[in-house]
Amino acid sequence: MRGDWRSRFAENVRDYEGYPIGKTIAYLTDPEIISLAGGLPSPDVFQRTEFRAASEKSCDTEIDRILQYSPIPGEASLMDAVLRFLERDHIHISKENVLITTSGQHGLDLLGRLFLEPGDVVLVDRPTFAGALVAFEMQRPRFVGVTIEPDGSDVEGFGRALQDLAGNGIKPKFIYVVPDFQNPTGITMSLAKREALLDLSYAYDVPVVEDSPYRDLRYAGETIPALYTLDQRREGGHVIGLYTFSKIFCPGMRVGFNIGPPEVIERMTHIKEGNILNTPKFNQDMCTAFLEEMGFEKHVARCQSYYREKLDVFLKTMAAHFPPESGVRWTKPEGGLFLWVSVPEAIDTAELFFDAIEHKVAFVPGEQFYAENPEHNHMRINFSFVSKEDLAEAVKRLAKCIETALERTRK
Ligand SMILES: Cc1ncc(COP(=O)(O)O)c(C=O)c1O
Repeated sequence: MRGDWRSRFAENVRDYEGYPIGKTIAYLTDPEIISLAGGLPSPDVFQRTEFRAASEKSCDTEIDRILQYSPIPGEASLMDAVLRFLERDHIHISKENVLITTSGQHGLDLLGRLFLEPGDVVLVDRPTFAGALVAFEMQRPRFVGVTIEPDGSDVEGFGRALQDLAGNGIKPKFIYVVPDFQNPTGITMSLAKREALLDLSYAYDVPVVEDSPYRDLRYAGETIPALYTLDQRREGGHVIGLYTFSKIFCPGMRVGFNIGPPEVIERMTHIKEGNILNTPKFNQDMCTAFLEEMGFEKHVARCQSYYREKLDVFLKTMAAHFPPESGVRWTKPEGGLFLWVSVPEAIDTAELFFDAIEHKVAFVPGEQFYAENPEHNHMRINFSFVSKEDLAEAVKRLAKCIETALERTRK
């Protein structure tokens, strides 16, 4: 080609760098490193036997359909199973409200493509899920971030932002939240805040996007109604729900689903047509079997007790190594796969990451979870993947490397 490639790239992606976590994880090739960086569920809770049985059954009875294209909105059997799954949360909808997606990330991508044009405003927490930011960034929106609080999004802060924006004639396209065990902080939004967030949505006529991969992974406390449920009890039609099977079943199947008003789902389905066409039937069949034939409630209970133990080990080891005077703080989630560790401001965790690798431990630097003006003294920790022994050892290694970094700042 004459000239450079870059000048030919579409403006939306010319400077697009994709997922920063991917680059962080690419450093972790040394098998001695204990990585708390990824967001992986543990293979210890994978339902291998049940999966094999379900895949054999599916191949025995449906092989020609498995090897064929399948309906774009999704397999009817999975849709029915999803509708029953949502009934547990008192979400009463029908097939026209559901689109099967090829993972949660695909669900986010469809949302961004449907709603966002360059310069459009999206309200997000600070910090928030980096994968949502990179999915939306493709459309070059403007993010307005409000710092999350121990009981969830700063809804009053969202209110002030909405008022300021309205004063300038700007209506955000949506408010994006992860109410249950947020990635990256593990924080859960209180019931009062969920209601208040819906009040804002109604008052300013701005939809709320509820991204909900972790809802069933609760290890303590009481389940709080989903935003979608609360909205249905009121007017309805203000919430779009994003779900994935990645965390409660397995990420390998790449299946999720979006729910919302029929008009939204229909348009997302058209975009899916042009974007990946259909989600593989085999993968959908495995998810149907997961919901209906593999002992769902028992599996969820097993995941809960398994992850609860790991979280306990992590929290206890942290408390033993970081006394209050260390200036190190961390969230104490009631579920999910992550927590958020904050170190004294003098430490930049993007630099600490390389010290940590020397100490054979890894995390994700917190700056990756901010849409703008990142804070530099936090890290995201995943506690679900490595063994309990490695978790305890990882905290010891972290403590050493933070201590060294603190000494350096005192010099
Ligand atoms: C909040 C949130 N949304 C969506 C996703 C994407 O899920 P998937 O692995 O199905 O693409 C994740 C994965 O970490 C997540 O934490």
